[in-house]
Amino acid sequence: MTPKTFKIKSFGCQMNVYDGERMAELLGQRGMTAAADSEEADLVVLNTCHIREKAADKAYSDVGRLRRDDGSKPLIALAGCVAQAEGAEARRRSPLIDIVVGPQAYHRLPDMIAAAERGGRPVDTDMPSISKFSALPARRRASPSAFLTVQEGCDKFCTYCVVPYTRGAEVSRPWDDILEEGRSLVDAGAREIVLLGQNVNAWKYGRRDLADLIRELASIDRLERIRYTTSHPMDMNDALIQAHADSAKLMPYLHLPVQSGSNRILKAMNRSHTAETYLAIIDLMRAARPDIAISGDFIVGFPGETEEDFEATLNIVNAVRYASAYSFKYSPRPGTPAAAMEDQIPRDIMDDRLQRLQSRIGEHQLAFNRSTIGCDTPVLIERPGRLLGQMIGRSPWLQSVHVETAAPPGEIVDVTLVAAGPNSMTGAARRQVAA
Ligand code: 5AD
Ligand code: SF4
Repeated sequence: MTPKTFKIKSFGCQMNVYDGERMAELLGQRGMTAAADSEEADLVVLNTCHIREKAADKAYSDVGRLRRDDGSKPLIALAGCVAQAEGAEARRRSPLIDIVVGPQAYHRLPDMIAAAERGGRPVDTDMPSISKFSALPARRRASPSAFLTVQEGCDKFCTYCVVPYTRGAEVSRPWDDILEEGRSLVDAGAREIVLLGQNVNAWKYGRRDLADLIRELASIDRLERIRYTTSHPMDMNDALIQAHADSAKLMPYLHLPVQSGSNRILKAMNRSHTAETYLAIIDLMRAARPDIAISGDFIVGFPGETEEDFEATLNIVNAVRYASAYSFKYSPRPGTPAAAMEDQIPRDIMDDRLQRLQSRIGEHQLAFNRSTIGCDTPVLIERPGRLLGQMIGRSPWLQSVHVETAAPPGEIVDVTLVAAGPNSMTGAARRQVAA
């Protein structure tokens, strides 16, 4: 039966969210419509993430749950990084899976669906040199804050990370393609564009770098805000730092993972920066844009991490005073160098360190949020809140702001921040004074 409805479930990072949106547009262009949930869909795409422990096991149990009470099942496509890592093995592990499609091949999904209908079980984990982007339909729908992938893949080979294997080598999308997609997103209602890449600040096109791209995007009239994520410390060049001083549309927020505060561990991770060089970048960022909110990622329990190494991580958290940060227990990823290292850290020690790190990060996050109380700031309204008349939007520092307003999603409202919680702010809309 030709599928008429689809459900795409994306897990993991923002790049997967972006890929999920593009797959939906592609299927929509082929006449399929989105179903409310997977129970009602003829086709279910599981757009998976491989970064967490037991990622593959979780994907297979998610597949199993798609079997319906009457014994039927939808057409099932395994997509994303687990699909890339497992390839044809996926079909051996679960006969329920009809299609296996990697993150660089999903533009071929319609052909694969047709092949599955003919009784085939197609697998495509190629990383073609022809960009999938040019095979995808133009953007017609956009949320107030829209993702735009500009770079994919990673050449850094941090010893714990699967990304260089699942997403391949660093590839930058061409300048014109990005600008065209940016304009379409703005035409479709986006007020903010978030440039995405596993190493977004490594984006390069000829002599042009990310700072040039941001400047060009900033010339799009109705685009109000630009962000980018995720950056690598070693690709933070002077031009990009300077852009934070010069470009009013570039938001005062930087996600710059450090992973550990211990130079010994950073070396074992092959991070190519030290705690000192990282802190020097943060100083330059703050000189360029004093109110910048810094965010980061941390891994606790990397092989060989001692209590002293972990304390160096707590120290760097204190030194940076993160506005927000994500922290993870180290998870050995098959095929990565760190998975074969000696001195893997016991689970109870990892649990204890993660809990201590998260409480330290939480203190700084609350302190940052409190420091913004009293600020008059524009808030981009994104969606309705839980209370009647309440909307939720984002401050320039990416805080979630709850505010009573009649302004619809996509509008930018002048707000005074009046109260701070650990994860969100309360704002009061300021009355516009007629000129
Ligand atoms: N174990 C734990 N965390 C990891 N990350 C990446 N690989 C691993 C791993 N093997 C974290 C890093 C990265 C974020 C996206 O996920 O902190 O910045
Ligand atoms: Fe998950 Fe990393 Fe793949 Fe994103 S790139 S989906 S975080 S494994």
